[in-house]
Amino acid sequence: MKDQFQSGPLHGKVNNKEERFSSSGFILAAIGSAVGLGNMWKFPYITGQYGGAAFFMLFVICLLLVGLPVLLAELTVGRGGRGNASTSLIRLSGRKLWGGFGFITILGAFVILSFYAVVAGWTLHYAMLSFTGKLFEHKDYALLFSNFNASWMPVFWQFIVMLLTGFVIIRGVSAGIEKFNKILIPGLVILLLVLCVRALSLEGAGEGVAFFLKPDFSKLSAESALVALGHAFFSLSLGMGAIMTYGAYVDKRQSLGLATLAIGIGDLAYAFLAGLIIFPTTFVYGLEASQGPGLVFVALPAAFSAMPLGAIFGGLFFVLLAFAALTSMISLLEVPVAFVREAFGWSRKFSVVLLTLLCFLVGLPSALSLGDKAPWLTFGGKSFFDWMDFVCSNIVLPLGGLVVTLFVGYAWKGAAEEAGLSTWWLRLWMFMLRYVAPILVLLVFLYSSGILTF
Ligand code: TRP
Repeated sequence: MKDQFQSGPLHGKVNNKEERFSSSGFILAAIGSAVGLGNMWKFPYITGQYGGAAFFMLFVICLLLVGLPVLLAELTVGRGGRGNASTSLIRLSGRKLWGGFGFITILGAFVILSFYAVVAGWTLHYAMLSFTGKLFEHKDYALLFSNFNASWMPVFWQFIVMLLTGFVIIRGVSAGIEKFNKILIPGLVILLLVLCVRALSLEGAGEGVAFFLKPDFSKLSAESALVALGHAFFSLSLGMGAIMTYGAYVDKRQSLGLATLAIGIGDLAYAFLAGLIIFPTTFVYGLEASQGPGLVFVALPAAFSAMPLGAIFGGLFFVLLAFAALTSMISLLEVPVAFVREAFGWSRKFSVVLLTLLCFLVGLPSALSLGDKAPWLTFGGKSFFDWMDFVCSNIVLPLGGLVVTLFVGYAWKGAAEEAGLSTWWLRLWMFMLRYVAPILVLLVFLYSSGILTF
């Protein structure tokens, strides 16, 4: 029998066993990609800002109606094309132009990784501070956070997390990506459950749970809906070629529909449990849930310092965050790695070493722009870090999502066959991809790029 992996531009490489996922390994790795800082760092504070439980419901709706169809589209293109996020599109459509769009998403993944690593580094620093008890020698956590950013420590930790990511990827898909996800994801689940029990058993936890789970629809606005949709994309790792790249390593026998469902449920469950940790903890200690990006690094340390055995629970919390971040970083780095291997024929080793170091360097201005070392890195009212986040998450990401929906909805005729859905599901999927998703994604783009305002 002809090996199904032999057709495809990555073929000489995907051909060997080390460059394929097993079925369970693929689902875990994709959940690992989805579950990340987005779920634990971003999701709680935007939920706090945009309406608590009502926002959470919007997020669930966006995830189901738009996120899952686009997720399935990316997987289908990846497996059908068996290439990187650019060559898969070219191969399936026969047109170079699509590959150009794909290339932009590859750059996007690289840039996201450059600043994502900075935040991932913070989590390791805070885990250390917490376990050693040093975190609790301070009282003003906002000051601690800004002093930390003014030091060279963020750069040190950023370097360490980039090295860890490179270290996993250099071993390949099966012995690296899959193996580490198989260790980290169960670890993540255990930590999550321990912290959940801790948070829910705090006296007065009910109020935080109520904020998270009792909807108040008067707080909703068109803006909340667009933020929810944008976050559904970010949270499922869409629009940046990550899921597409993983798709290229998946076996033909794998049901992509079921995989999509499993990844969606995994991501949602994780966001839900993260909410059950963060809201009760902040409420019990009288902290504001809507205080923005500092919620996890400023409000939660205050809560852990007041909690019995807080050093241990705080340390575990930040380790949990670090694990989640690492499995997402792995998926982001694999996107440009797959590209340069194919484009230049470089070995995996060389590609990983080069891109890991390059990504660290590209991330340096992001890390430094949050301290006071380089005031010139703040311009137009935003730090370099915020600019990178803004351009990638709000512009490149929705556009990348749009490219995938249009590609599968209109350009590539073989999508239905590759996806292998039953007639009814196929109709629903195509309807969402042709009509619903592109319009909604366009709205998110117009809103988040600042063209559309309320
Ligand atoms: N989904 C991850 C999170 O929630 C982040 C992430 C990983 C991502 N890979 C991505 C976001 C690709 C966009 C595109 O933290």
